[in-house]
Amino acid sequence: MSQHLSENPPVNSMTALWASEADTPQKAKWWKEAVVYQVYTRSFSDSNGDGIGDLPGLIGRLDYLKSLGVQVIWLAPHYDTPNVDNGYDIRDYRAIDPLQGTMADFDRLVAGLHERGMKLIVDLVINHTSDQHEWFRQSRSGPANPYRDFYIWRDGRDDGPPNNYLSIFGGSAWEKDEASGQYYLHYFAKEQPDLNWENPKVRQEVYNMMRFWLDKGVSGFRMDSICFISKLPGLRDLTLAVMESLEHVYVTGPKIHDYLQDMHHEVLVERDLLTVGEAFGVSFEDTPAFVSEARNELTMVFHFEIVRIGRHDWQVQDWTIKDLKAVLRGEDTSSGPDGWLTSFLENHDNPRSVSWFGDPSPKGHGPSAKALATLLVMRRGTPYIYQGEEIGMTNIHFDGIEDFQDINAKGIWNNTVGIGKMSAEEVLHSLQRVTRDNARTPMQWDASNHAGFTTGLPWFRVNPNHVDINVAQQDADPNSILNYYRTLIQLRASQKTLIYGDFEDVDPDHPAVIAFTRTLGDDQFLILINMCGETEHYILPHGLKIAEVLLDNMSASVENVLPNLKPWQAGIYRLAPPADI
Ligand code: NOJ
Repeated sequence: MSQHLSENPPVNSMTALWASEADTPQKAKWWKEAVVYQVYTRSFSDSNGDGIGDLPGLIGRLDYLKSLGVQVIWLAPHYDTPNVDNGYDIRDYRAIDPLQGTMADFDRLVAGLHERGMKLIVDLVINHTSDQHEWFRQSRSGPANPYRDFYIWRDGRDDGPPNNYLSIFGGSAWEKDEASGQYYLHYFAKEQPDLNWENPKVRQEVYNMMRFWLDKGVSGFRMDSICFISKLPGLRDLTLAVMESLEHVYVTGPKIHDYLQDMHHEVLVERDLLTVGEAFGVSFEDTPAFVSEARNELTMVFHFEIVRIGRHDWQVQDWTIKDLKAVLRGEDTSSGPDGWLTSFLENHDNPRSVSWFGDPSPKGHGPSAKALATLLVMRRGTPYIYQGEEIGMTNIHFDGIEDFQDINAKGIWNNTVGIGKMSAEEVLHSLQRVTRDNARTPMQWDASNHAGFTTGLPWFRVNPNHVDINVAQQDADPNSILNYYRTLIQLRASQKTLIYGDFEDVDPDHPAVIAFTRTLGDDQFLILINMCGETEHYILPHGLKIAEVLLDNMSASVENVLPNLKPWQAGIYRLAPPADI
C-alpha cells in the first residue's frame, strides 16, 4: 500500500472543496477537481405551478445539490427567448426568460450557490440568436440597415438558396427573406439565424454581454455550438459525401482559433473560469488546439463520440463494449499534453444513459446505473452529471409523433415520414431510442402526482416510472443509486489520483469488462466495470491483484470481487504493489 494514499482522509471526512496550491500537483485547477451538475431548468423544478421549471424552483433545490456533492451548476439558457428551441434561441442576452423568473431570482441563485461554496456556469449561445432578437429584426429590415451585416445574408442561386448547406435540424440551412429577396444562413432552425463573426461589432457585442454575466458572479460558460462560429470561406457547395456528417464540416472554419483567442484575450484572461466548448464534430486529433493551456482558448470541450456510440446521426446502429473502450482511449489522449477533458454520458440532447448503455429493467436498473456512474465519475476529466442521471432516470415511451416535443424530432419526422422517404415504424423505432425528448421529461422528485415537479400541468409528460424511481425514495435508501453517486463524488474529491492521475485501459480486448487504472506517482487505483447483465469470469491481466476495495456496487470484499464479476458489478480498488503479486 502506498504511503501517500494511506495519508488521504477517509471518504466520509472529505470537506475541502477546492484545491489548495500547497498540496496539489502542478496545474491544479478548481474546474479539474469539481463535479458539474447540468440543470435543464424547464424540467427541473417548478415553483409557481405553471408546469415549467424555473429559477426559484432550482433555488429551492440547492441543498439537495449540495448534498449530492457537486460543486458547479451548469444552467440551461436562462435568457429571454421565444422558446422555439427551449431557450437556445435568444431574444435578449441581458434579460431573463419570464417563464424562468426574474433578474432578482438569478442574483439569488448566484448568491445561494456562493453561500454553499458552489459556483455557476451559464450557457452561452453565440453561434446564433433568435430571429426575434433586436439585431435580427433590424438586420432583416433591409440591406442598408447597420445591423444587416450582423448576420450572413447572400443572394440566391437559380431561384434557390445560395448553396446546398443543410441545417443540423434538417432541410436547407438558408431561409429566404421575401422583402429583400436575399437568404440568411441558419445552421439550426430557421428561427435561429447565425451571427456573422467576421463582423468585429458582433464580436464586441458578444464580449460585452459575457462581461455583463461575469460581473454578476458566474464562474464560466458552456459554449453552445462554439466550433461552428467561423464559416467556410466562399460558402461553396458541399460534396454529397461530406453532407453525411455536416458537423465535421461546419467546425472547419479557418478563423475559429483566432476568434477563441480573441475572446480569451478580451474577456476570459486572468479570471480563472471554467470554459467548456460544445465540440460536436471536432476530431480527437484537432482537440489539443482548443484545450491546450498554452494556447489560451477553452479549458475543456465536450466530444460526442461516447454518447453517440451506436448511432449514425439519429439512426440506431450496432455497437460493442470494445468500440466504447476504443473511444474512451481516444478521448483520453485528445486533451494533448497540457489540456483537460470532460466526462459525460448524458445531457439534454441525448437519451438516458441507463436506457442506452445499461439495463433499465427492474432487475438491471440499479446495478447498471451504478456501473455507469463508476465510469462517469472515475474516468479522467471533469464529470458532468445531467439532472436525473443520479437516480437513474430512464427513457420514456413514445406512441407516435404526437408524443414528441422536440423541434429536432419533428424535423426528422417531416424530412422522412413526411415526404414518404421512410415508414413511420422505421423512424419511430430509432427516434424512440435517440430523441432528445428522452432527457427532457420532468425531474422525478417523489412518487406523488407529477413526481413533485409541479403542482400544475407539466409542460412535458412525467415518466410513469417516477413512482419507483425518484429522489425521495433513493435519499432514504442507503443502497440507492443516488447514495452511490454521493459516495463516488466524495471518493473522487478525497483522492488526487482519481482527479489528476493518468488513465490506462489495461484490458482493451475484453469484450465485456472495462478495466482501467488511474495512476499518480506511486498511487494507483483499478476501476473495473462489468458492462453486461451476465456474470463474467474475469482474470485481471498482467498479473494484477486487488489489495483493497474502496467502493464496490455489490459490496464485494477483496476475496470475492474476482474471478466472478456479477452482472453490472463495478468498483474502485487498490492494487497490490508489484512485490506482493
Ligand atoms: C446544442 C444544444 O445543446 C442544443 O440543445 C441546441 O438545440 C443546439 N445547440 C442549437 O443551439
